[in-house]
Order: sequence, then C-alpha cells, then structure tokens
Amino acid sequence: MPPNAVITGWGMYAPQRILTNQDLARMVDTSDEWIVTRTGIRERRIAADDETTTTLSVYAARDALAVAGLDPTELDLVIVGTCSPDYPLPATGVLVARDLGATRAAGFDLQAACSGFLFALATGSSFIRSGMYRNVLVLGVEVLSRFLDWHDRGTCVLFGDGAGAVILSASDQPGGLLGLELFSDGTGAEGIIVPAGGSACPASPQTSAEGGHFIHMSGADVYRYATRQLAESTLAALRSAGLGVDDIDQFVYHQANLRIIKSVGKQLQIPDEKVFVNIEKYGNTSAASVPMALVEAVASGRIKQGDRLLMAAFGAGYTAGAAVVEWTADPLQAFRAPGAQTRLGKPRSAGAATLGETAADEEAALPEVAAAG
Ligand SMILES: CC(C)(COP(=O)(O)OP(=O)(O)OC[C@H]1O[C@@H](n2cnc3c(N)ncnc32)[C@H](O)[C@@H]1OP(=O)(O)O)[C@@H](O)C(=O)NCCC(=O)NCCS
Repeated sequence: MPPNAVITGWGMYAPQRILTNQDLARMVDTSDEWIVTRTGIRERRIAADDETTTTLSVYAARDALAVAGLDPTELDLVIVGTCSPDYPLPATGVLVARDLGATRAAGFDLQAACSGFLFALATGSSFIRSGMYRNVLVLGVEVLSRFLDWHDRGTCVLFGDGAGAVILSASDQPGGLLGLELFSDGTGAEGIIVPAGGSACPASPQTSAEGGHFIHMSGADVYRYATRQLAESTLAALRSAGLGVDDIDQFVYHQANLRIIKSVGKQLQIPDEKVFVNIEKYGNTSAASVPMALVEAVASGRIKQGDRLLMAAFGAGYTAGAAVVEWTADPLQAFRAPGAQTRLGKPRSAGAATLGETAADEEAALPEVAAAG
C-alpha cells in the first residue's frame, strides 16, 4: 500500500500593513460601499518594502514546521505555489529552503496563478504517495501588490499579500487527500494576464511605460467563468473521492469574491455554515488564499479531527483545482506549538494598524499613487 499524504503542520503569515477600502477611495475613484457590495472585501494586507515572497513564505513555513514538530532538515521538498516570485529566476522555493535551513530539501516554484496551492498540494501528495519523499512543505504565497497598477480601480481593490503553508507527511494511517481535480483551459489566457516581462513580450522601457508588467483583467469574463468552473471542479473532486456534497464538513474556497463563493454555494446547495469566508480581511491573495483560509478555519474551531474538507480555487489561465482532504491532525496542536500563536488565527496582532493610523514615514512607503492622490 502506498503511504497516505496527511497534513501534519499548518501556518500562515499576513503582513502588518493594512490597506482599507477607505484608503483606496483616497487613491482611485472607488468607494467602500462599491467594493464591499461587489466583492465582500473590506481591507487587505500589503507587504512592507523589505518583505518579499520568500520572507512571507519563511514566516508561514516556520509556523507550519513548529505545528508538525519537524526540524527544517527533515524536509525533503519545498514547493512554492506563486505567481509573484521574488525573481523570474532563481526559484523562490530554493530561497525559502535556504532561509529555513532546509539543507536536504529540493525546492521549486509552481505557477498556476490563484490555483497554485491546489496544484502544489497535488504535486506534494504525489511525491509522498509514490514513496519518494516523506515530508513536503507546500506553500501558497503572493506579494501581488508589486504587480498591481495602483491607478486601475478594476484590479487594485481586489488583491492583497499573504502566505499560507502546510506540511504533508507520509502516514500509514487513513486520511489526507481523498479526491482531486486539476483543470486548465488556455482559451481564457487573456482573462487575467501580466502581458509583458516574459518571452512573448520581453521587458523594455516601452512595456514599462505601457503598464505591461501589471495585472490586466477582464473582470466580468473572469466572474462568469469562475462561478461555473468552481462548481464543476468541486463536483469533479467529490466524484473522484466517491463522495457527495453532504459528506463534506467544511468548504474552503479561494477568496476572490464573496459573490462568487455565494453563487457556488447556492448552485451546490451548501449550507452557509459549511463555507469558510475570510475575504473581508485579506482580499484576493491568489495562491495564498486557500491555505490562509484553511489555517484560520482550523484556528477558529470549524475543522475537527476526522472532518472532510473540500478546498478549491480558480485563477488565471484559466486554471482550477479542487481537493477533498480528510483532516487527521489535532487542531489544538497549533496553539501548543512554540511561536505559532503570533500569526495563527490572530492575524490582527497588537502591532497591526490601519493605514490611517500609521506613521507618516510608513505612508510615504505606499505605492506612489497614494501620494499622487
Ligand atoms: C471585478 C468585479 C468585482 C466587478 O464587479 P461587477 O459586478 O462585474 O461590476 P459591475 O458590472 O457592477 O460594474 C462595472 C462598473 O464598475 C466600474 N468599476 C470597476 N471597478 C470599480 C471600483 N473599484 N470602484 C468603482 N467602480 C468600479 C467599472 O468601470 C464599470 O463601470 P462602467 O459600467 O461605467 O464601465 C467582478 O467582475 C469580479 O469580481 N470579477 C472576477 C475577478 C476575479 O475574481 N479575479 C481574480 C480571479 S482569481
């Protein structure tokens, strides 16, 4: 029998700086009312100038390692699901392994946009089930604030920065990944795209002047596709697990838009109390959104040992991923683990402040449009 890949550790990190809808209304032509009614988002986190995808990853990963009771040297593999890496090369996964002291681990990045964590979870599970590795760190991490046009109200109000991590470990006990669906459809490539900076359109002064390195999105098209595809991917993952909607204890969806989550819940007749939502605090953190929601769902007591979860995400490509997971760990382990308390389920720590309350020098560090606007 191949080993099962069960989640033994989990952690998250949200940058301290909070950007509220009111702050955005001072930067672009928008309002708190528009953003809340169209998306459910009230605020999002923005990485500090000295924070990167690697540094966010390391915070989340350290907490996940502490919960699992693992030393970094016991990791065999580090997979970072991200579309906002520190650099086009080297891979963020390599830098994360270095900074963690995961000296035995191989590291790489996996790009499936907002579905990155689901694709990384599937990949990590496969390495464990094949017998090749015993402990895999799977991350979903983004610093998308560096890829946003802060003059474009159609995108800049939606996204935020953050990191989520799980440790997958080989186990002879039942549990872990029960069902999986990965999906991609490149006909939707233009729906969400950073058009420049790759081989198709290399970086140049012109691409920079034209905003080619920022996220461009056709919101209405993405919305339509996402509502349909998330429901279909959910059902496909359930079929692969031999389960139905009623067999799932908690649904942890990609937090892109509250209306999308509600629409999927309605299509599949999922009771509201089984759908975890934290979009109001973080916005769309892309690949980080599902693992951050998972960590907060566990910390809030909504996930218990033996529960079956469905995690699903949708993103640029288009891509979609859905996984049915049996949760085997003791949720309280997170609160016993050293160091984990600071960032786990209590992301709004004493040190956090809204933008309105930050010191002038911090405000100066905001994206330029804040000053312009
Ligand atoms: C972007 C999104 C929130 C827009 O909501 P919507 O209900 O489609 O928007 P509406 O059709 O009601 O309104 C569009 C209008 O609002 C305007 N608008 C866009 N952003 C705005 C903002 N931040 N504030 C105020 N008005 C805004 C548009 O310019 C447009 O105006 P127009 O009709 O004069 O051209 C929605 O389409 C969405 O969430 N799409 C999916 C995006 C997503 O999830 N992307 C990531 C996937 S991983």
